[in-house]
Amino acid sequence: MTATPACGGIGRWQQRADVVVIGVGVAGLTAGLAAHRAGRKVVVLAKTRHAPGTTATHYAQGGIAVVLPGTEDSVAAHVADTVAAGAGLCDEAAVTSIVADGYRAVADLVGAGAHFDTGADGHWSLTREGGHHRRRIIHAGGDATGVEVQRALDEAAGILDIRPQHTAIALLRDDEKITGVLVATPDGPGILHAPSVILATGGLGHLYRATTNPDGATGDGVALALWAGAEVADLEFIQFHPTMLFDGSAGGRRPLITEALRGEGAILRDAAGEAIMAGVHPMADLAPRDVVAAAVDARLRATGADCAYLDARRVPGLARRFPTVTAACRAAGIDPVRQPIPIVPGAHYSCGGVRTDPHGRTTLAGLFAAGEVGRTGMHGANRLASNSLLEGLVVGGRAGVAAAEHALATGPTRARADEPVAPVAVDRAALQRAMSTGASVLRDGAGLAGIAALLAGARPLPVTGRRRFESAALTAVADAVVTAAARRTESRGCHHRSDDPSNAAREVA
Ligand code: SIN
Repeated sequence: MTATPACGGIGRWQQRADVVVIGVGVAGLTAGLAAHRAGRKVVVLAKTRHAPGTTATHYAQGGIAVVLPGTEDSVAAHVADTVAAGAGLCDEAAVTSIVADGYRAVADLVGAGAHFDTGADGHWSLTREGGHHRRRIIHAGGDATGVEVQRALDEAAGILDIRPQHTAIALLRDDEKITGVLVATPDGPGILHAPSVILATGGLGHLYRATTNPDGATGDGVALALWAGAEVADLEFIQFHPTMLFDGSAGGRRPLITEALRGEGAILRDAAGEAIMAGVHPMADLAPRDVVAAAVDARLRATGADCAYLDARRVPGLARRFPTVTAACRAAGIDPVRQPIPIVPGAHYSCGGVRTDPHGRTTLAGLFAAGEVGRTGMHGANRLASNSLLEGLVVGGRAGVAAAEHALATGPTRARADEPVAPVAVDRAALQRAMSTGASVLRDGAGLAGIAALLAGARPLPVTGRRRFESAALTAVADAVVTAAARRTESRGCHHRSDDPSNAAREVA
C-alpha cells in the first residue's frame, strides 16, 4: 500500500477507468486518443481549466524536428545531431526508435487536422535551429507551431472524457503495480481506480523565478513518481533556453524568443554590440543550446550587464515569419524589426524525468510517462531543439497503446488510499530564489549545498488543493534535482559546474 499525501476526507467519491491520463498537452492528448482508439475507457485530468495557454505545447514556437521522406535528410543524420547535442548521455537505441517513428506520428497529427507552413512549391517549409546540421524543422503559423498542434489535438480530443480542475495528488499502488489515482477537485477529493496511469504533466520550469514554461509547470509528474517509488533519472540536466525575453518583469512565465530566428540569420550580441558566439563553437549562433546559453551567461557575468541582445533585424520578413515573437516584443515596448531584442537565458526544459523505455513504460507496472515528464534517454545531457514535440507525439502515442494493453491484461483494480502522510514544502518564492541563484546555468557545490540546507527546513503541508500540492511537488523535485546535480561533479551538457576544473576555460569564455 502506498503512503499518500494527507488530503482531508480522502475518497469522497470513487470512479473507475481503464486508463487515466494526467495532462492535456501534446503527449497527454496523443496518449489519451491512442488508448481510446484501442477501446479502453479513458479519463484525462487537466489541472486547470482546459483552455489555450495552459500547456507548454501551446507556447512551442520553433517547430517539430522530423525527417521527411524524399529529402536529403536521413534518420541517421537526425540521430547523429541528437546524440551530439546530448553530450554523450543519449540512449542511441531510444533516439533511433523515436526519430524513425517521427514522420508517421506527424502524419497522424496531420490526419487529426494540423496544418504546417508550406513554401511556394507546396511542400512544408523547413527551418533550422541550434545543433541541427540540416533544415528539418516543420512549423505552423510562422512561429506558432504549438498553438496549431494544441488546436488540432484539442479538437480531436473532443471525444475524450476530460476533467478540468482535477489535480492528481498521489498515485495509488499495491506491492506490485499501480491501482489508481487520488484526485483533488473543487468538489472534494476522490479516487479514480485504474490499472494504467499515464503521466504527461510537462516540466518543472517554476522551480525558478523566471521561465518560459506556463503556470502549471511545477514538476508534478516527477513528484508523483518519486512518491510512488518509480525511478527518475538525469534530473540535473535542466535546459536553459538562451533567448528568453528580458522584459523587466519580476518573474513567472516570460516569452520565448525562438531559436529559429537564429536559424534565419539572427545574431546574439552583448551590450557593446560584440557577437557573443563568434569563436566559441564552429556552429556559432547555431551551436547546441547548452553551449549558447552558457556563452550568454558567461558574457553577462563578465560584463555585469542585465541582458544580452538578439539582433534579428536582418531576418527577412521578420514580422510575417515570426508573428508570435513580434507581438511579444511589441507588448514589451520593443520593435524587433528596428531594435535588437533584449534577452537572458531562461529555464526551459527538463531533459531528465521519470525513467521510461521508448514506449513510455516506467519502472512501476501500470505507470507510464510521456513528453517532458519522461526520460526515455532521447535527450541525454542536453535536448536538441524541436525534438520535444516530436518525442511527445511519438512516445505519447506509444504510451497510450501500451497503457491500453496493460489495462486489458490486468483488469479492474481496487485502489486504497488509507495511509495518508503529510508531504513537506518550503516557501515557493524562497525556493525559486535559491534555485535561480544556486542551480542555474552555472552551478557549484556550495550553491547546491545552500539549496539543500533550505530544503532541509521543509515543513509538513497537508495537501488541500492544487496550490499546496504544487508547493509539495516543487519541494520534492528540487530535492531530487539538487541531489543529482551535487552528485555530478563534472560539467556536461546543460549541467555546468564552475567548480569542475575541466570547465575553467568555459567559465571565463
Ligand atoms: C524554440 O523555438 O527556440 C524552442 C524550441 C524547443 O524548445 O525545442
